[in-house]
Amino acid sequence: MTASSFHDVLIIGSGAAGLSLALRLADHVRIAVLSKVALCEGSTLYAQGGISAVHDEQDSVNSHIQDTLAAGAGLCDPEAVRLVVSQGKDCIDWLLERGVPFTEETSEDGSSHLHLTREAAHTHRRVVHAADATGKAVETSLEHHARRHANIDLFEYHNVVDLICERKIGGTGNRVLGAYVLDTRKHRVKTLRARIVVLATGGAGKAYLYTSNPDVATGDGIALAWRVGARVANMEFIQFHPTCLYHPQARSFLISEAVRGEGGKLRLPDGSPFMAKFDPREEMAPRDIVARAIDHEIKRLGADCVYLDISHKPAEFITGHFPTIHARCLELGMDITRQPIPVVPAAHYTCGGVLTDSHARTDVPGLYAIGEVACTGLHGANRLASNSLLECLVYARQACADILRILPTISPPPPLPEWDESKVSDSDEEVVVSHNWDEIRRFMWDYVGIVRTNKRLERALRRAELLKQEIAEYYGHFRVTSDLLELRNLATVAELIIRSAMQRKESRGLHFTLDYPEPDDGQAPRSTILTPKRP
Ligand code: FAD
Ligand code: SIN
Repeated sequence: MTASSFHDVLIIGSGAAGLSLALRLADHVRIAVLSKVALCEGSTLYAQGGISAVHDEQDSVNSHIQDTLAAGAGLCDPEAVRLVVSQGKDCIDWLLERGVPFTEETSEDGSSHLHLTREAAHTHRRVVHAADATGKAVETSLEHHARRHANIDLFEYHNVVDLICERKIGGTGNRVLGAYVLDTRKHRVKTLRARIVVLATGGAGKAYLYTSNPDVATGDGIALAWRVGARVANMEFIQFHPTCLYHPQARSFLISEAVRGEGGKLRLPDGSPFMAKFDPREEMAPRDIVARAIDHEIKRLGADCVYLDISHKPAEFITGHFPTIHARCLELGMDITRQPIPVVPAAHYTCGGVLTDSHARTDVPGLYAIGEVACTGLHGANRLASNSLLECLVYARQACADILRILPTISPPPPLPEWDESKVSDSDEEVVVSHNWDEIRRFMWDYVGIVRTNKRLERALRRAELLKQEIAEYYGHFRVTSDLLELRNLATVAELIIRSAMQRKESRGLHFTLDYPEPDDGQAPRSTILTPKRP
């Protein structure tokens, strides 16, 4: 590859969103797909529960819509909800055609059909899954096809530094023309040009000390889009998954909600159940309620964790439904067919993100955003379990249609200036980067976590502003590294979360503050939209 390469479409991210878009486009145009580390690494790979889609005769699209709207606590865009939910079955069929091995069951008449599991706040069984490793089945199938497609160039271990827009080359418009990208194995910044750029970079769970997310989830796409002038919405709605494994050697391992869906009971350290005190739906209450209940009990008792117990079910049932969870816990010395699982809540999903329309277009011409990086209006103030993989697939399809429609009207970008490293040197103080990483993640957990207050948010903002200055200074003096790029993005995203949380003077969905513990029903609920300064 030359230092400046050209593709019709540059897709940043290789999870369910990025790869499904690449595969839909690749028969028509030339694509580049970037991933920060190995191609398959990202949240998609670790998804457990499944993908929600209406398949059961007793179920209906309307019921799935109502459940999504109820979880979203008044902030979903009903059009976005209908768009996504009504494409559920088609998207599952598309994955089946690509060989994704979803779990099936056999009916009494001998015919086989997809097994549907149940998760909290779904009124029906509607979660299509591949045992308890749905993400792995999806990601590896998509990877298999992407690696073989002649029109897809894969750039693994490439971390985007910044997007390049027309203003960078003295233009007056803000159309995106490509990106500066750090090849992290060769330590060289390349210039990639494209007619269309798509962000599929996933979420920002790594802004928090405890998270179910893999290391790549540093909110890069949100920060990249913000820096070139795209609006960002609903960043205060960070979903905390109630049940991550509590174990020093398995810090981000998830215990799927499907464990509660299939009868798992939450218990205090003394063995007593407690969810009935918090919600009549008990273990099947929405995630925010369960996470807050666990947080409350852990703080009240000064306990390290609570326990999730499925051991009353037959051992074959447990190992059949949850082979990955069973095997991982066994490796760590716990047999979940006989023992309860120690669990704590952890940051899991970024409901907000780059504001997009029904075609996945952002405010910046030529820039699209799909998957967890985007805020489409589907999730509102709280995401219904297993709706996010579906959202990735549906908006990849929407973006594909729009990109193919618009591409013939967009000319290739002109030559772009190369990355200039003439004024920077190698860092002599890497400790600044690692220290600031830790500091952000800790103050976000302590001050901007499951329960917030005005005072905690003010404290967090003061720290975020100070860190941002320090990082900008460092960035101006030293050669870029992956850690520095991620830190710079994480600091931006942390500030966006804090500022959004400060704007919401009520508790709604995932945002809970002791200063305003109730929803403000005096006015129609509104999304929190932040607008960047003109780039
Ligand atoms: P990801 O799959 O996270 O992929 C992001 C991609 O972007 C990666 O390739 C990464 O390398 C790349 N990238 C990021 N930054 C850069 C950069 N600067 N430069 C270059 N590349 C970059 N949802 C469900 O619907 N059902 C579930 O059962 C479920 N279970 C989950 C379990 C776990 C443990 C987790 C963490 C999440 C789960 N979710 C689930 C949520 C869901 O998995 C994610 O929302 C979804 O997979 C996001 O897909 P994505 O394609 O947007 O991003
Ligand atoms: C899980 O399996 O509990 C995760 C499901 C989701 O995040 O949608």
